[in-house]
Amino acid sequence: MESTIIAPPPPSSLAVFREDLFKGKVLFCTGGGSGICKDMTEAVLRHGANAVIVGRKLERLNEAAKELATATGRKVLAVQADVREPKQLQDAVTKTIKEFGRIDFVICGAAGNFLAPIEGLSENAFKTVISIDLLGTYNTVKATLPYIREARGSYIHVSATLHYKGIWDKNSQLGVVNQWVFLGIPHQAHVSAAKAGVDALSAVIAVEEGPRGVRSNVIAPGPIADTEGVKRLVQDSIYGKHPGKALPLQRFGEKADISNATVFLFSGAANYITGQIMVVDGGEIHTGLGA
Ligand code: HXC
Repeated sequence: MESTIIAPPPPSSLAVFREDLFKGKVLFCTGGGSGICKDMTEAVLRHGANAVIVGRKLERLNEAAKELATATGRKVLAVQADVREPKQLQDAVTKTIKEFGRIDFVICGAAGNFLAPIEGLSENAFKTVISIDLLGTYNTVKATLPYIREARGSYIHVSATLHYKGIWDKNSQLGVVNQWVFLGIPHQAHVSAAKAGVDALSAVIAVEEGPRGVRSNVIAPGPIADTEGVKRLVQDSIYGKHPGKALPLQRFGEKADISNATVFLFSGAANYITGQIMVVDGGEIHTGLGA
C-alpha cells in the first residue's frame, strides 16, 4: 500500500520545559562558540543556568558569549582553550570555578572535520581529528569530573550518526557502482572512528560514575539544517535535491531539536537515563539513506 503524508510533524518548540528548570546551575560547554553547541548552550541558559563556553578562537567566543548573554539575560563566560591541551582545559575549569563556584553540566562538543578518502588521509590528519573529538572529550571529562561528582551532575557528548549506518554509494565515490557500503560514510574514516570512541567513552563513564550520581549520555544528531556537517556532507547526496523529504519525519532537523534533547537529558526527567545514545535524526538511520 502506498503511504500518504497526512500531516508532517510540526517543528520543535523550545517552550516545552519550565523556564527555571536549571536555576542555580552551571554549564561548561566545549565548542560552544558556534554551531549546534552554541544553540545547546542557549537552551540551557534559557532555562535559568549560567554558562562557560570554551573554544580555540577567542574573538568568536567573545562575540558568542555577548550574543548568548543578551538573548537570555544569563551570565556567559568565554574561555579560550584547545581541548587537545589538558593544561588549557584545567585552566578553563579553574576560571569557571572562580567565576561561578560549580559545574553541574558538561557538553563535550568541540569537533573537527573535513572530507578526505582514507588514501588521502595522512597520519597527522587522522590523529588531528581523533585528538580534537576523542582525546578532547577525555581531557574535558578529566578536567571537570571532580566538580561534576560534587554536583552529582551530568555529561552530554556530541557524537554523529555516521558510524551507525551504511549508505548507497550512488555517486560511485569509491569506484564501485550500486554497492552498499556498510557502517561507514565515505571520506569520514577519521570522524567515524573518533565518534565511535566517544560513544564508548560515554558508556564507561556512565558505568564507573553512576554510583556517584553522575550521568553520561550521548546525543547523535542526524542531518541538522544550517550546520557545518550538513553543508559539508549533503550537497551531492540524495538530500541535495529533496532536502529532508526522504526522511520519515519529512524535514531536516533544526538546532532546536538538539536543544530540546539537551534540556531533557540534563533535566530531572532523565534522572534514570545514563549510558545512552540519543539519536536525533528524524528516523534517518532506519531508512538506509545517508548523507
Ligand atoms: C586531507 C586534511 C584536510 C583535508 C586538513 N588536513 N584538512 N587532509 N583533507 N581537507 C590535514 C592537514 O593537511 C594536516 O595533516 C592535518 O590534517 C592537520 O591539519 P591542520 O590544519 O594543521 O590542523 P588544525 O589547524 O588543528 O585544524 C583542525 C582541522 C580543521 C580539523 C583540520 O578543519 C578545524 O580546525 N576544524 C574545526 C572546525 C570544524 O571542522 N568544524 C566542523 C565540525 S562538524 P599533514 O599531514 O599535512 O600535517 C563535525 C560534524 C561531524 O564535526 C559529523 C558530521 C555529520
